[in-house]
Amino acid sequence: MFRLFLFLILICKVDSNPPDDPIKCSSSPTKKCTITNSYGAFPDRALCRASDVAYPTTEQDLISLVALASKNKRNIKVSTRFSHSLPKLVCPDGEDGLVISTKFLNRTLETDHLSMTMSFETGVTLRDLISEAAKAGLALPYAPYWWGVTVGGMIGTGAHGSSLWGVGSAVHDYVVGLRIITPAGPEDGYAKVWTLSNGDPDLNAARVSLGVLGVISQVTLRLQPIFKRSITFLEKDDSDLGDQVGSFGNQHEFADMTWYPSQRKVIYRIDDRVSSNVSGNGLNNFTPFRSTLSAVLAALRTAEEVQELRGDANGKCIDGKLATSTLKLTAYGYTNNGN
Ligand SMILES: Cc1cc2nc3c(=O)[nH]c(=O)nc-3n(C[C@H](O)[C@H](O)[C@H](O)COP(=O)(O)OP(=O)(O)OC[C@H]3O[C@@H](n4cnc5c(N)ncnc54)[C@H](O)[C@@H]3O)c2cc1C
Ligand SMILES: *[C@@H]1O[C@H](CO)[C@@H](O)[C@H](O)[C@H]1NC(C)=O
Ligand SMILES: *[C@@H]1O[C@H](CO)[C@@H](O)[C@H](O)[C@H]1NC(C)=O
Repeated sequence: MFRLFLFLILICKVDSNPPDDPIKCSSSPTKKCTITNSYGAFPDRALCRASDVAYPTTEQDLISLVALASKNKRNIKVSTRFSHSLPKLVCPDGEDGLVISTKFLNRTLETDHLSMTMSFETGVTLRDLISEAAKAGLALPYAPYWWGVTVGGMIGTGAHGSSLWGVGSAVHDYVVGLRIITPAGPEDGYAKVWTLSNGDPDLNAARVSLGVLGVISQVTLRLQPIFKRSITFLEKDDSDLGDQVGSFGNQHEFADMTWYPSQRKVIYRIDDRVSSNVSGNGLNNFTPFRSTLSAVLAALRTAEEVQELRGDANGKCIDGKLATSTLKLTAYGYTNNGN
């Protein structure tokens, strides 16, 4: 990740587009589809296959799709706009499965100001969730560090931010209700809609389901009044790292540590909640999380392979130091009031 950053800054500062659609289907009559993730590569470098991909636009569509597939005993998996997960979670068994995409299930539904809850269709991205919540004066307190993920994908894999406070930083712990459509028998018309809410033991299973229990259509999240965060980075050596983990973690609500063991260095992110009326307008645009040209990735990969082949440990250390100092120089991707 960091070497990628280095190349972007030093060699080719380029604009990159969002990743290719990870799903490609040939036109009829065969209508076979190949599926990958947003990187274009699963860990085993293979593609997976399905006989078709459906893009429901309403929950009713979704129910019909699940019912038809379950009646025909077909395997189903759920994909999202870009499928950012590395493992092959999105692949149905065999080659004749159905993939259901949440790409167009991306509406923000109700807001309950009194209970500070909001409901979303599961294809809504974290980016849209944050901005819709902000319009209502609300915020999801903890979230992954990158907003291209969707509501369904985040909760399905237990995605989280960083906090030791309260119940912790996993998004699924802020889920107070959801609707999930599961395959069923003929007596239920081959699909069943479950509305699960807090206190229902099934909700705990459905929260982090890895997509294997059914298709979640809507999620209700408990939010908090909108706030700001104040962030300062501190670099220290790692001699007392063991003692710091617990104490630093408990001191700051959003505490985060990055350890560079070979450089004997730790970057502490002192990160606390402050009132939303505190002045200052920060922006986090972390370079390693931006879209990257495939050619750049290929060049990096080749450079790395050459270093591996030559056992060039020194080269790796030099690259590592260059990457960490570049990150530091660019304030880890943060700006304050544009500076
Ligand atoms: C740049 C980047 C930064 C990241 N940073 C963090 C981070 O800081 N913290 C962290 O915890 N994670 C992080 N991740 C990991 C990321 O949160 C997970 O990979 C997440 O699952 C991706 O979400 P997605 O919407 O792309 O879902 P996908 O990868 O498409 O799906 C994930 C799983 O959820 C299932 N699923 C999705 N929607 C539904 C649905 N509606 N019903 C049923 N099942 C469903 C899928 O079938 C699949 O099994 C990061 C990933 C990237 C690419
Ligand atoms: C939903 O996603 C589609 C396709 O990406 C987009 O055209 C549309 O504007 C999105 N709708 C909402 C409400 O965000
Ligand atoms: C900010 O809001 C808090 C209450 O939330 C208030 O006590 C404080 O005076 C406000 N500060 C400013 C600068 O407006």
